[in-house]
Amino acid sequence: MKNVLAIYPGSFDPVTNGHLDLIERGAKIFGRLVVSVLRNFDKEPLFTLDERVEMLREVTRPWPNVEVDVFGGLLVDYAKVRGANVILRGIRAVSDYEYELQMAMMNRKLNPDVETVFMMPAASYSFLSSHLVREIVRLGGPVTDLVPAAVEQRLRAKVL
Ligand code: PNS
Repeated sequence: MKNVLAIYPGSFDPVTNGHLDLIERGAKIFGRLVVSVLRNFDKEPLFTLDERVEMLREVTRPWPNVEVDVFGGLLVDYAKVRGANVILRGIRAVSDYEYELQMAMMNRKLNPDVETVFMMPAASYSFLSSHLVREIVRLGGPVTDLVPAAVEQRLRAKVL
């Protein structure tokens, strides 16, 4: 699949070690991986779009075939503009599957040429989410093994 361009979309508020684990797996399989941050999502984000992109660029530097971008509107439209026909999504546990399946099927209905590929992060990240990381930091707990050091620093600065 070295000639395949894949999009790894998400809100990344902030990027966690679970996201990075998936990026590493995706970068091994696909020729190019574009990590794309959703511009407008319903929830009020903790980090601005620029901050989320900056953190992703910093932590994905080790992978030369990984690019960070932003997108708005429909994911399948963005994938078409980028010339990508694979969307990469992570599944941590069975509980993720229902929502992910629904999204993958709807994206297939919107554009049958775009395939969704699911990968599983390491089991040690099966309980990890950006939402829980934000909550732990807000309540003064440790997130050392859950996010990259640069992200932890920014989280502390944001919450203090
Ligand atoms: O990290 P998240 O919040 O789970 O990512 C969700 C994301 C960005 C992949 C999803 O909300 C999305 O694709 N939004 C773009 C709008 C869109 O295409 N909606 C129809 C999906 S079926």
